[in-house]
Amino acid sequence: MDSSASSGSKFLRALAGELSAIPPIWFMRQAGRYLPEYRELRAKAGSFLDLCYNPELAAEVTLQPIRRFDLDAAILFADILLIPHALGQELSFVEGEGPRLNPAITPALLDGFRKQNILEKLAPVFETVRRTRAALDPSKALIGFAGAPWTVATYMLAGGPSKDPAALRSVFYRDRAFIMALIDMLIETTTDYLIAQIDAGADAVQLFDTWAQGLPWPVLDAVSVEPMDRIGRAVKKARPGTPVIFFPKGVGEKAAEYAMLPGCDAIGIDYAMDASWARTHLSPSRTVQGGLDPLLVVEGGAAMEKAAVSLLRLFHDVPYVFNLGHGFVPETPPEHVARLVAVVRDGAWRG
Ligand code: CP3
Repeated sequence: MDSSASSGSKFLRALAGELSAIPPIWFMRQAGRYLPEYRELRAKAGSFLDLCYNPELAAEVTLQPIRRFDLDAAILFADILLIPHALGQELSFVEGEGPRLNPAITPALLDGFRKQNILEKLAPVFETVRRTRAALDPSKALIGFAGAPWTVATYMLAGGPSKDPAALRSVFYRDRAFIMALIDMLIETTTDYLIAQIDAGADAVQLFDTWAQGLPWPVLDAVSVEPMDRIGRAVKKARPGTPVIFFPKGVGEKAAEYAMLPGCDAIGIDYAMDASWARTHLSPSRTVQGGLDPLLVVEGGAAMEKAAVSLLRLFHDVPYVFNLGHGFVPETPPEHVARLVAVVRDGAWRG
């Protein structure tokens, strides 16, 4: 990796394999409903989607957690469902029910979707990246992101959060050609989307495969492992030096396979993963990120601190990025986040 690009940022140095006494910190869903300043701007924007497509406000929301907690990286404020939206599905967020995509994707709709110019429709997102990068201190990294094809496909197929993962497995067995055509289309659009984020100023990108869990391994290979690697490799070929982080949630020991992929520079671990196993099997090949159960930050106190210290000690002698094992939930008290950051940074855990 180009050292001039990474030298200013502790986060990028960790991704490049450098060890530091105190690891860099950022959090999945660090911008969002648990922050009063976010709720205020969201009310001003109207809807969540209006906020995502308003570069001025979206850049401000991206910076809010950096200002409050002095984190080492900001993550672009957007959503993984903006790609299906740009492809032609109507997107809405129903309070308490989650996202809705309409119409659900079918083989008949796929060709029309393929013709959409998603980069044009997603131009406000790249403007958010430009504005955020310009406002961010050079010592802080800006992370771009997208959903991994399988996770995005589950929402596109079910028209929202899939209530019945078994039904999606059946669709895969019944019409594998359709699912793989959808995945292939998402590989292409996601690659273009991430490259455009990098060109606008993103220093690293993360692929979220939130719904990778629970798939038989041959299915996982086809819809997640291989597609993520193809995106990672294409992004790295087009923009060498920009690290790609994979977050395949709930895949257990299959994570060792993801970590070894040429398209992967760093691997996020979820809260259910055995962190000692990750230390032994993932750290030798890639920088590991995350692991802390976000629900511990809702509780705070000794339980949160003990779990954080145990991760910090486990990964003290390898490159590591401190983070959660999934995103913050809206009930998280911001004071607990501040305390967590203080515990990581004061270094007393080094003993
Ligand atoms: O701070 C950040 O992490 C950056 C922004 C970000 C959001 N979503 C903002 C958001 C990121 C990286 C995501 C990723 C995302 N979106 C994923 C993958 C990671 C994960 O959490 O598993 C998924 C599966 C989605 C789809 C999605 N978007 C869901 C399921 C929801 C929640 C719906 C609900 O109402 O509970 C969203 C909405 C969303 N995305 C919010 C935020 C801050 C809440 C919107 C609001 O203000 O109401």
